[in-house]
This record gives sequence, C-alpha cells and structure tokens, in this order.
Amino acid sequence: MIESRGAIPFNDLTPRDESARAELEAVARRVIASGWYIFGPELEAFEREFAESVDCAHGVGVSSGTEAIQLALTALGVGPGDDVVTVANTAVPTVSAITAAGAQPVFADVDPETLLMDATKVAPRITPRTRAIVPVHLFGQAVDMDPIIDLARRRGIPILEDAAQAHGARFKGRPVGALGDACAWSFYPTKNLGALGDAGMVTTNDAAVAARLRRLRAYGQSSRYVHVEKGINSRLDEIQAAFLRAKLPRLSSANTRRREIAALYDRHLHGVTLPTRASERDHVFHLYVIRAARRDALQAALRDEGIGTLIHYPIPVHRQAAYVEHIDQAPFLAVTERAADEILSLPLYPELSDADVRRVADAVTRIAARA
Ligand SMILES: Cc1ncc(COP(=O)(O)O)c(C=O)c1O
Repeated sequence: MIESRGAIPFNDLTPRDESARAELEAVARRVIASGWYIFGPELEAFEREFAESVDCAHGVGVSSGTEAIQLALTALGVGPGDDVVTVANTAVPTVSAITAAGAQPVFADVDPETLLMDATKVAPRITPRTRAIVPVHLFGQAVDMDPIIDLARRRGIPILEDAAQAHGARFKGRPVGALGDACAWSFYPTKNLGALGDAGMVTTNDAAVAARLRRLRAYGQSSRYVHVEKGINSRLDEIQAAFLRAKLPRLSSANTRRREIAALYDRHLHGVTLPTRASERDHVFHLYVIRAARRDALQAALRDEGIGTLIHYPIPVHRQAAYVEHIDQAPFLAVTERAADEILSLPLYPELSDADVRRVADAVTRIAARA
C-alpha cells in the first residue's frame, strides 16, 4: 500500500464550479415556483434545444435511455417476432430494451481496434426477420456508420443509434443522433450530459416516428383520455429538463476537457494498449478504456493505491444469466469475449486535475511494468 495521498474515485459528480452549482439551485427554485412539474415549457424547450444541437428536427423526452431505446424500436415498427441486430459488449439496457419491445436480440461481433459495431460482422447476422439495427456509440466514439447505413438501406432495415455514451460525438463531421432513423439518449447522471436523476430522449428527423413516440410515452394517448395504442408512462420531468437545459451549453467545454485528459493519459501511459481513435470521428471520451493482459491484477493494485477503475463491461450480454438463452451466439463473438477480459476504464471526468491524471497514468505504467 503506497497510497498516502487522497483517493481518486472513478467518478465524482459533485459540482465543483460555484457558478454551475448556483445555476442549478436557481433552476430548481424556478421550477418549484412555477408549480408545473410534468409536460411543460422546460421539457418543450429542452427537446427543441437538444434536438437542434444534434441536427435533428424532433426530440421526444422520456424517463431513461432504456425506455428511449424500447419506445423508439416500437415507434419504428419493431415488435414480437422481430430480430434486432446489436452488439454484446454494451450496457445491458441496450438489450433489455430490445426484449422489452418484444423483439429478439441478435449479436454481431465488434471491430478489434475500436470495440464498436463492425458492418462486416453485421451483414451475416441479418435474416428476413431482422427489423432494426442498433449500433452503439460506446465509450464516446461513433461507430463507423457509412457501411452500416449502406447495408441497412439495401435491406430496408431501420437504424436506431444508441448514443447513451456519446453526447457531442461526431462521425465525418456530423453529430451522432441524426445518422440513422432515430437515436436514443440517456441523461443518467454520469453521462457526458447528465441530469440530477434519470432522463432520456429520442431524436429523429421522422415526424411520424416522433408523433408516435409522444403517444407511447403517455400511455398511448393521442389526446387526454383517448388511447389509440398501448403505451407506458415514460416522462422526462420538468425539473430534470430544466437542469439539462442549464447544462447543455457547457457540454462542449466539458467534452474539450475530457479530450485534454485523454491526451494527457495518452502521453503518460506506457505498457498498456491505449484507446483507438478511428479516423474522421470526434471521440468525446465518456470512458477512457485501456487494455491490459493482466487486467484483474492491475485493477486490484490500483485499488490498493486508492485509484478507482471500472470495467465496461466485464460480462458480455450473451453470458449474463438473464440472457442465457443467447449463449449459442458465443461462436460469433470472439472479439467481444476476448476484450471483456482485458479492458479497464480509468477515471475520466472534467473535474479531474492534471496532477491526478498523471498520478493514475504513472501508477498504471509502474504496475504494468511489474507484470
Ligand atoms: C450504451 C448504453 N445504452 C443504454 C443505456 C441505458 O440508459 P439509462 O441508464 O438512462 O436507462 C446506457 C446507460 O446506462 C448505456 O450506457
């Protein structure tokens, strides 16, 4: 145990910037004073402002990223009997949302460099039952979308992007969020744009999809007490929408700081594999994911020095007990399975100081050299 300095947690959501904290407190007072807490002007404004920021015509606020995926799939016409192709190295909610929409997940392996969906692995997984493709812009980096868009267009299959980890990321200069038929966002507090609780959104340029989502999130109502289809309750509260409106203008500078931290890690880390930035993509470093042969020993040694790390994700979805019926897909997922044993996410959040980044990088380098 070398550590005598303060611990470096994996994440820290306490607002350090006094002006940001004061702004959030003022926002809370404003919403409380308004007496309007659900489906009001804050949500309408945030839907418009966020959708505009990703070059989309429509934004529909919902309760979480999970329900954004579930409801977007339903709005795109996916349901029981349909297959949805996605990846197995993702947050489990990508897949639980697919099953909640009544569909079956079909997993495609990922690119060995970026660990993102790989169109060449998607093509052989498509069948006549495939009714959607869900590329996940994992870790803050956009998927190589052009070949996926080509494939989907040729087969007439809608694309739902999962951008829960990629607020502000770009592919060939275009923001993620408007690259497919619809895009699901999470504003879980740790995300690059995070609420002070749960929140999510679907962005789309398709007015019919947006209109259907507005019904689905409100018990299937077309107008009050008129239910034209079966929906659920999935609302983005006024207070969360107001917090998110206050935070949106700071997203770009927060992402710039994330990139600076990533560059600092790149310079100071040795003896481990660094994250790949594929060409023509603006990575927003929701996570800084390294690969190390003796990952578990490295993680334990860092923990002993007070440095928090996490693994995104240690058990691919097809190996989770809840999804055991998909274990027969393992032979298609060799890259996914290998990566799960090697990946490690280092602390990266805008408030992290340069000194802490160097301390983490030096510790990783020293421990990796011992291995
Ligand atoms: C890639 C991905 N998809 C979906 C989700 C689900 O979002 P939420 O936690 O807001 O339901 C998350 C976040 O946990 C995620 O990281």
